Amino acid sequence: MRIVVLVSGTGSNLQSVIDAVADGSLPNVEIAAVGADKHDTYGVERSAAAGIETFVVNFKDYAERSEWNHELTEKCLSYEPDYVVSSGFMRIVGEEFINAFDGTYINTHPALLPSFPGAHGVRDAMAYGVKVTGCTVHIADAGVDTGPILRQEAVVIEDHDTEETLHERIKLVERRLLIATLADLAAK
Ligand code: GAR
Repeated sequence: MRIVVLVSGTGSNLQSVIDAVADGSLPNVEIAAVGADKHDTYGVERSAAAGIETFVVNFKDYAERSEWNHELTEKCLSYEPDYVVSSGFMRIVGEEFINAFDGTYINTHPALLPSFPGAHGVRDAMAYGVKVTGCTVHIADAGVDTGPILRQEAVVIEDHDTEETLHERIKLVERRLLIATLADLAAK
């Protein structure tokens, strides 16, 4: 199973996938490439260090969102992936991309969707005052963190949590769910 992983930042969840592929825990998964929507992300840097092909389709280089979306779609298609994984990819992709990867675009989100979608899932859950949040791995459609849910797990919010401590605990679960989801998909 060939995957392209898209990142916008640190790529710590991506690193767990790189490690799982390297240590044989995901025997049928190949990371064909890692792409980002901006320059100088640690996600791309760590992928290059692991010998994985990388690319950047820099959002700010395009006057029109549709042009960026077209370029991103073409670039991802060029690797002939079975799945594209949004792992902390913080841009909404357009119709052309969604149509090209219909049902094969996977996203992870640090909240129990459909609650708290968007760029600040952890912060929004804390601000609301929920006592349990979690993470979701789902097939992404044209909405913001919407689409059929594949895996989900709860994480309890502790009184002493900050956004950072809670997000770190959520990410530990998120990594496990992402790897389990990829293993499931690769076994199909
Ligand atoms: C992850 O928690 C991911 O779920 C979240 O960004 C983080 C990326 O961390 N994505 C979203 O919020 C998407 N709406 P990482 O770069 O360290 O893997």
